[in-house]
Amino acid sequence: MPKNFEQMEDSNRSANPSIHEVSDPARRVFVLGGIGALTIGALSPWLAGQVVAADGRSPLLGFRPVPVSEKDQVLVPEGYEAVAIAAWGEPIGVPGNMPAFRWDASNSAADQAVQMGMHHDGIHYFPIGGSSTHGLLVMNHEYTDDGLLFPDGKNKWAAEKLRKAQAAHGVAVIEIVLEDGRWEMVRPSRYARRYTASTPIAVSGPAVGHALMKTQADPGGRTVLGTLNNCGSGMTPWGTYLSAEENWAFYFDGPAERDADQRRWGLLRTGLSRWGEHDPRFDAVRHPNEFHRFGWIVEIDPFDPAAMPVKRTALGRGAKEGAWVGTTRDGRAVVYSGEDARFEYIYKFVSRDPVAPGGAKANATLLDHGTLYVARFDGDGTGRWVALVQGQGPLTDDNGFPDQGAVLIRSRQASDLLGATKMDRPEWIAIDHDARTVYCTLTNNTRRGMPGRPAVDAANPRANNTMGHIIQWTEDDDFDATTFRWTHLLLAGDPANERPEARGNIRGDSFACPDGLTVDARGVLWIQTDITSDEKGRGEFQRLGNNQMLACDPATGEVRRFLTGPVGCEITGLALTPDGRTMFVNIQHPGEPLTPRQDNLEVPNLHSDPADPRKYSNWPDFRPDGRPRSATVAIRKLDGGPIGT
Ligand code: FEO
Ligand code: CA
Ligand code: CA
Repeated sequence: MPKNFEQMEDSNRSANPSIHEVSDPARRVFVLGGIGALTIGALSPWLAGQVVAADGRSPLLGFRPVPVSEKDQVLVPEGYEAVAIAAWGEPIGVPGNMPAFRWDASNSAADQAVQMGMHHDGIHYFPIGGSSTHGLLVMNHEYTDDGLLFPDGKNKWAAEKLRKAQAAHGVAVIEIVLEDGRWEMVRPSRYARRYTASTPIAVSGPAVGHALMKTQADPGGRTVLGTLNNCGSGMTPWGTYLSAEENWAFYFDGPAERDADQRRWGLLRTGLSRWGEHDPRFDAVRHPNEFHRFGWIVEIDPFDPAAMPVKRTALGRGAKEGAWVGTTRDGRAVVYSGEDARFEYIYKFVSRDPVAPGGAKANATLLDHGTLYVARFDGDGTGRWVALVQGQGPLTDDNGFPDQGAVLIRSRQASDLLGATKMDRPEWIAIDHDARTVYCTLTNNTRRGMPGRPAVDAANPRANNTMGHIIQWTEDDDFDATTFRWTHLLLAGDPANERPEARGNIRGDSFACPDGLTVDARGVLWIQTDITSDEKGRGEFQRLGNNQMLACDPATGEVRRFLTGPVGCEITGLALTPDGRTMFVNIQHPGEPLTPRQDNLEVPNLHSDPADPRKYSNWPDFRPDGRPRSATVAIRKLDGGPIGT
């Protein structure tokens, strides 16, 4: 999702020290003074001695890179094909209720509730019986472009339009099968279903029933209607799907005078959605606690349509990008997450109990008990996980934390007090289990180093960080460790840029604004990019083309471009079949309007012109009467081999 939203993504005015103030001066000078000259070897000393082919190329990456592209197409390397499936508006396959997509966007709210939602994001493949040719795809639908969602856009905003917009958000579960080399949706399917911004969802963990979670409609604080702005996703070892609610704050309308908590969470006087006009839940003046009921990780059991999804409050509240699960040697779950907002934090949750055999039902409360930590990256290359536990350190009643529920609902403020490190917009996290190494994309932060904002520090070393970087850490001993060692995998950029801070140190193909991130079973790190459309093709981004996906061999640092997307899209979400021979990648918001950046604009234009829906893109259908649609692409190698070889 594009983020120009000044108030939401940049609300951290806490006084906790930036780590440059506590970092080792020698390292600081090295980082600040050496950007232009840094090499991967200098940043990653453990790379010395890694095996590299005689031609200097990684043995893991077997494909020929694709060039940058400005075409309205998905391009993949020679020897591969990418086929779009499950586009926005396709009927998901609910028996007896499969309304076709109408090309003029005139489907009703009821139609939309049984069709693919808009703006596909995080995605996972759940094999049926271990199969790599038959399974469930579960995916997030992050937000809507209301200029494409309705024939006349946002004109004559009404309750029916609100209901359709809410139905286009959330999560989809579909059944798919590979037949004759092509993936198809199985329709009808007993698994097919949607979770939307109005589906009942249970609350569990320490914040269930908390005073801050109670509303007029739900006086017990136990059941929320809906999940929204679902961004990245994770898959648990016990077979469930984790969906993160990211930019939910923008959907609420706040009071003229917002209190300190509301300001810290980016509540706007007038939200971006106009949902509050027809759904009073989103009017935070009338229903201030509804605002606390979003920003959670939602757990879904894909194979049980009757099971109610659950908001897991023990994992903390935030503008969470996603949730990614590791396992300690003794079987406890460790859930990593970050908040994608300027100067926000990286978290991990360690479950109290080990994962039980028996799948989803046997682990129905596993994520309700455990300890949440926030990351501090120190300047000497070490780091520390600091626990968010009520009564410990500054997290006391006197400081506004009377109980653990309050700590979790206000995890940002708790982290401020704990001196967590303010990061450059943490997006996806990927876990290399064997190496106990974790990677996180920090997509960009153009406010870094500006007057009144935190200065550069060792972990976020570039002022006006337009390009983003990828940080990595290795836990000391096991995933539940409270200390780690960190470094940068790479600083993104284009070596042709004039400004040293925008050149980066990529060994291979250039890119900017890393976002989606996944380690596959072969150890390849897949990097997806999200340069916003108002910047694409301009200034420091002018040579980088459309958004793309690249493969990186972390052992050598080599980066090779694997895919370029259509005009105006971001590439986000990635899932592989167990055999590694199909890769599903989501193409989000093709045709996003190319609105020039206006930093003084509180509300950016996320909506296409309904009178000209094909202005920038008509992917993937290219119909003269159609409109661009988010979709999943199923990527196969023509020789049937594993992806990336
Ligand atoms: Fe939904 Fe931070 O991307
Ligand atoms: Ca993202
Ligand atoms: Ca992004």
